[in-house]
Amino acid sequence: MDSYTNGVKGIILAGGTGSRLFPITRAVSKQLLPIYDKPMIYYPLSTLMLAGLREILLITTPHDQAAFTRLLGDGSQLGLSIEYVVQDQPNGLAEALILGEEFLGGDKCALILGDNLFYGPGLGTHLRANTSVDGALIFAYQVSDPAAYGVVEFDDAGTVLSIEEKPEQPKSSYAVPGIYFYDEKAPLLARRLRPSERGELEITALNNAYLELGALRVEVLSRATTWLDTGTHESLYEAGGLIRTLQHRTGMRIGDVEQIARDQSWI
Ligand code: DAU
Repeated sequence: MDSYTNGVKGIILAGGTGSRLFPITRAVSKQLLPIYDKPMIYYPLSTLMLAGLREILLITTPHDQAAFTRLLGDGSQLGLSIEYVVQDQPNGLAEALILGEEFLGGDKCALILGDNLFYGPGLGTHLRANTSVDGALIFAYQVSDPAAYGVVEFDDAGTVLSIEEKPEQPKSSYAVPGIYFYDEKAPLLARRLRPSERGELEITALNNAYLELGALRVEVLSRATTWLDTGTHESLYEAGGLIRTLQHRTGMRIGDVEQIARDQSWI
C-alpha cells in the first residue's frame, strides 16, 4: 500500500481513561460512544482517510482493544490496513510516537486524537496536500475557551513564539486541535521528552521541540472548518446534535467511513 500513501502513515490515539465522562466511560471506551449515528472513532478515522492515508495504527487501552478490533478488524473491508497497539497507562499523547515507532518504520505520520472531530468544506483536499511534511505541521483554531487546550502565542508578524499546554492565562485565543503532521524525526524527539508535572509526555512538548529546531509550521484553520473535542458531556451532546443537524439539512453523511472508502475507490 506504500505507493498510495507516499510514505505517510496515520496514528489514532484512542486510549486514556475518559474520566471526564464518568460513569459512562467506566465500562465503555470513550472513543466508541455514539456521536449521533456512528461511533466516535469513525470521525477521526474518516479525517485520516480524507487525507488519503490508508495505513493506520490504532492505539487503545489494553482492555478496549478487543472492542475496537470487533468494530474495525484489519481495515480491509474499508480498503485500509489497520494495526493495533496498546498503551498500558495514559502516559500522554506524545507516547503515541514511541508506541508507533515500529509501525512507522521511519515514515512520516499524521497523529489524530480519537475524540477530535473535524468537518469543513475542502478539508480533505487541504490535508491531502499537506501530509508529507519536513519538520512538523500543526494547526491553530480560534476558540472561546483556550485555557482548556494547547495555546499558540504569535507575534505581530504571525510568527509562533510559544505553545503552552492549558495555560491559566492564555496568550491568544488560538488552540491547537488534535491533528498533527510529523516527519520521521518524531519518535526520536518524543523519546527525549521528560514527563510534565501531571506526569505525561505532552504533545505540546513535542511541538515545542520542533519549534526549537526551527521546524514547526502552524497553520490557522479557517472558520469554515468545524473542530470539536468531544471529551465532555456537553461537547459530546453538542457534537451529536451538530452531526444530526448537518446530515438532515444537507442530506450528506459526515464521518461515514464506508462511503469515503467507496468514493475513493478503495473498495
Ligand atoms: O483536543 C486537543 C487538545 O488535546 C490539545 O489542544 C492539547 O494540547 C492536548 O494536550 C490534548 O488535550 P486534552 O486535555 O484534550 O487531552 P486528553 O488528556 O483529553 O487526551 C486526548 C485524547 O487522547 C483522549 O481521547 C484520550 C487520549 N489519550 C490521552 C492520554 C493522556 C490517550 O489515548 N492516551 C493518553 O495517554
